[in-house]
Amino acid sequence: MTANPEASKRTKDGSTTVPNHVAIIMDGNGRWAESRGLDVSEGHHAGFENLQRVVADFAKRGVKYLTMYAFSTENWDRPESEVQGILELAIAVIAHEAQQLHENDVRIKHLGRVDRLSDELREELQQAVDMTAGNSGLTLGIAFDYGGRAEIANAAKQLIADGVSPDDIDEQKFAEYLYTSDMPDVDLLIRTGGDFRISNFLLWQTAYSEFYSSDIWWPDFYGEHIDSAFESFSERQRRFGKRI
Ligand code: IPE
Ligand code: IPE
Ligand code: MG
Repeated sequence: MTANPEASKRTKDGSTTVPNHVAIIMDGNGRWAESRGLDVSEGHHAGFENLQRVVADFAKRGVKYLTMYAFSTENWDRPESEVQGILELAIAVIAHEAQQLHENDVRIKHLGRVDRLSDELREELQQAVDMTAGNSGLTLGIAFDYGGRAEIANAAKQLIADGVSPDDIDEQKFAEYLYTSDMPDVDLLIRTGGDFRISNFLLWQTAYSEFYSSDIWWPDFYGEHIDSAFESFSERQRRFGKRI
C-alpha cells in the first residue's frame, strides 16, 4: 500500500494521534546486559520478555500493525553462541506465546527468509502464522532473518519468475511482492538504544515514516516510554512532499 495522509487516526478526545503501523528496531540488549555485568544472552532473554510485554500495550493504544525487528540478515555474523541463543529463545517464545496471542485475536506474520532457519523454528513460526491467520485484531509482524535489501531483491526475482511484464510493474505491483504485501506503510518507526540508523529495516515501507529514537535499551522500553514516542508522533506534521 502507498503512503496515506489519513493513515493516522485521532483518539476520541482529539488529543493524540495514534499511529496505525508502528515498527520497532529493538536495539540495546547487549548494552543492557553489559551494564549489569551479565552475559549478552541475558540481554536477549530480557529483550524477548519485553517483546511479550509490549504487544498488548500497543494493541490497547489502538495500533493495528506492529512490526518488530528481532533478527537481521546481518546478525548471523555475530558469535555462534549468541546466534544460537537467539534462535533457541525465538523457538521457546513462539511456542509459549502463540496460543495466548491467538486468544487475544492477534494475527502473526513472519517477515524474512525462511530457508536459513532450523526446521524447528520454521515449523513453530508457520504454525503460529497458520493458527492466527483468520484473526482480525492487531497484526504482529515478526522480522526474523529479515533484511530490507534482501526483501527488495527477492521481490524483483519473484516478479521475473512470475513472468510479470515490465509494463505492469509499478510501485503498487512491486509492493505486492514484498513480505508486507497486506500491510500498510509504517507510520512510526521507533529505534531503542540511542542510535539514528535504519540498519536495513523496512527500507521500502518507511519512505514517509516518522522516526523516533530513544536512549532506552530495548528490555526497558515499555509503558511511559511508549507514551513519549506517541506524544512525539502526535506533534509531527506529515506532509508527504506536499505544500501543506
Ligand atoms: C538488539 O540488541 C537485538 C539483536 C540485534 C538481535 P543488540 O544485541 O544489538 O544490543 P546492543 O546494540 O549490542 O546493545
Ligand atoms: C538492528 O540492530 C537489528 C535488530 C534490532 C534485530 P543491530 O544491533 O544489528 O544494528 P547495528 O549493527 O547497530 O546497525
Ligand atoms: Mg545493536
